[in-house]
Amino acid sequence: MKQQREQWTSKLGFILAAAGSAIGLGAIWKFPYIAGTNGGGAFLFVFILFTLLVGMPILLAEFAIGRSAQKDAISAYKFLTPGTAWPWLGRIGIVSSFIILSFYSVVGGWIFIYLLHIFLGNLQIESAEQFNQLFSESIMNPYLAVGGQLIFMILTIWVVGRGVQKGIERASQIMMPALFICFIILIIRSLTLPNVGEGISFFLLPDFGALNSKTIIYALGHSFFALSVGNSVMVTYSSYLEKNTSLSKSATVIVIMNIVISLLAGLAIFPAVFSLGMEPTEGPGLLFVVLPAVFNEMHFGMVFLFIFLILFLFATLTSAFSLLEIIVAVFSKDKPKRRKKVTWITGILIFLAGVPSALSFGVLKDTTIINKSIFDTADFLASNILLPIGALFIALYAAFKLPKSLLLNELTINTKHGKIVFTIWYFLIRYIAPTAIIIVFLDSIGMFDWMR
Ligand code: PFF
Repeated sequence: MKQQREQWTSKLGFILAAAGSAIGLGAIWKFPYIAGTNGGGAFLFVFILFTLLVGMPILLAEFAIGRSAQKDAISAYKFLTPGTAWPWLGRIGIVSSFIILSFYSVVGGWIFIYLLHIFLGNLQIESAEQFNQLFSESIMNPYLAVGGQLIFMILTIWVVGRGVQKGIERASQIMMPALFICFIILIIRSLTLPNVGEGISFFLLPDFGALNSKTIIYALGHSFFALSVGNSVMVTYSSYLEKNTSLSKSATVIVIMNIVISLLAGLAIFPAVFSLGMEPTEGPGLLFVVLPAVFNEMHFGMVFLFIFLILFLFATLTSAFSLLEIIVAVFSKDKPKRRKKVTWITGILIFLAGVPSALSFGVLKDTTIINKSIFDTADFLASNILLPIGALFIALYAAFKLPKSLLLNELTINTKHGKIVFTIWYFLIRYIAPTAIIIVFLDSIGMFDWMR
């Protein structure tokens, strides 16, 4: 007998899980630090533009591919276009998901290190420099860094091993509103610190002079990373979706939530950065140094910090689930018996692959690949090379390979003004998305330097 494929139990379940995949370290941790090192407001502007004009159309394409095929990331392409090379898109997606989770889990581990610090009372400190020092010492310590990463991976494996519905959907249901409220409290505190004007203008007023080819490729890569597109994760998630959910409504909710959380994270962090006399170009430690310092200025600061870290951990885990799920779905082929074993093996391999990234802030600090640390190389390779390549080919696949009637059907189900939505989407996915990705990519490898 053919086994019934698992499905999301409700529309809300799907939206929460897909939004859970999108919202994670990308919006909360990575966005503020790369905006900080890439020009602040100008970066924000370009990031939003790419998210709306390129990322969102590709998100919709992945949804349409996944739901119409109802299969994992490789089989979906095989099913829709048999006998072609397109399943390679799924394979590239598997590789990029593997790499992303290998360094993602390192940062997930840092959250555990901070939870430990709270219990040990190590965060009862005063100055921003002390927070900075504590952060550096923590991530340099190989036992803490690898231990944190291991705990993070075990949790991820455990939830994903239990299956899509039970594990992923339920875990995604409570954290989003709670995270939102926590950010609002943080922002109120951050904005009432002295001298916040400079931080607000740094974040919200674009200085386009700060843009260059590097910042633009980072903004493009980040728009994919933050929406979880380009590696067929969203193909996998929408393959568990029944036929009457509106894809464009779901995509709109996810995109808006993603932009809002990024804005909230920026508004919580940048005013405080300037007020506390720190630099916005701090790098990966930005959130981990600044937010504890802001909480420190509040009554019951450590309690709030604890709550924040738990929610931040949830957000991070729900993204990690999707990265592991895409690989597990491919190798377990919907067979529940195989699922547990595949999940453990894949998860452990990802953990091992991530150990050098975990150590790259300490023991392996001096090991660099083209001037980047191991951690930064993994991030750059996945976010700025593999995701854009995957996204480009997903756009081309939807726009030029799949039958228009299939896409029209998928994108207009239960959608008000479906035809208009479809026409706009089709234009963006055919012309704007591929052109933008190719230009930004060529620019990032210096192809247009002669014009400057
Ligand atoms: N979107 C996640 C975040 O912003 O934290 C990261 C991510 C998850 C990227 C899943 C890619 C992916 F397939």
